[in-house]
Amino acid sequence: MKKLLNIFNNTEILVAPSILAADFSDLGSEIKKIDKSGADLIHIDVMDGHFVPNISLGPPVIDKIRKTSELIFDVHLMISEPLKYCEAFSNAGADCITFHLESDDDTKEVIKAIRNTGCSVGLSIKPGTPVEDLMPYMNMIDMVLIMCVEPGFGGQKFMADMMPKVKFLREYIQKKNLDVHIQVDGGIDENTVSNVINAGANILVAGTAVFRHPKGTEYAISILKK
Ligand code: DX5
Ligand code: ZN
Repeated sequence: MKKLLNIFNNTEILVAPSILAADFSDLGSEIKKIDKSGADLIHIDVMDGHFVPNISLGPPVIDKIRKTSELIFDVHLMISEPLKYCEAFSNAGADCITFHLESDDDTKEVIKAIRNTGCSVGLSIKPGTPVEDLMPYMNMIDMVLIMCVEPGFGGQKFMADMMPKVKFLREYIQKKNLDVHIQVDGGIDENTVSNVINAGANILVAGTAVFRHPKGTEYAISILKK
């Protein structure tokens, strides 16, 4: 059974550690660890070496790690052709599938295809894409993902100039009374987190700040939630 994003209120602060920063040689234990540390979702970054200049992992790996946690598997597709692969990611165990507005496929078609798999639907924009481009799709999706770094790599510097996009979205969602979550991804840590919370984001993706925190994952997650 898939767990959908609507089990959470869209103003609840949730932490989604990105396993991109985990030890891939022991991924199962890494996921169990963040599950026990208070993570709300598991953020899984998928890169195809085409949409972004990096390659990460695909459905076979997700299928294998599915049994290690019952948390929502939040799959972030940084790939050129999401339409071709959304069913495979759903079958592998995704609960929520996010794709990029800048991908090659027709946005409405991808939204429909993800919806048909039974997964929650997320739509993301890269730093250079205006937030207004999301407007035609806001009543068809469950989450928007505002990238705060150029997608492709973990450990990059947070772009504070993305916050007006988040503010705009929070106001829009409130005004229209939409059930849409606002996720932010890239460079979120204990120093930048207040920026994203004040702007109105409610789902915080963090890779480096969770997996590489000197005081451990439980401390790292609790400090982000505070
Ligand atoms: C970037 C990915 C992010 C990234 C976050 O392309 O989408 O999820 O791994 O990593 P940190 O938190 O280290 O910036
Ligand atoms: Zn991501």
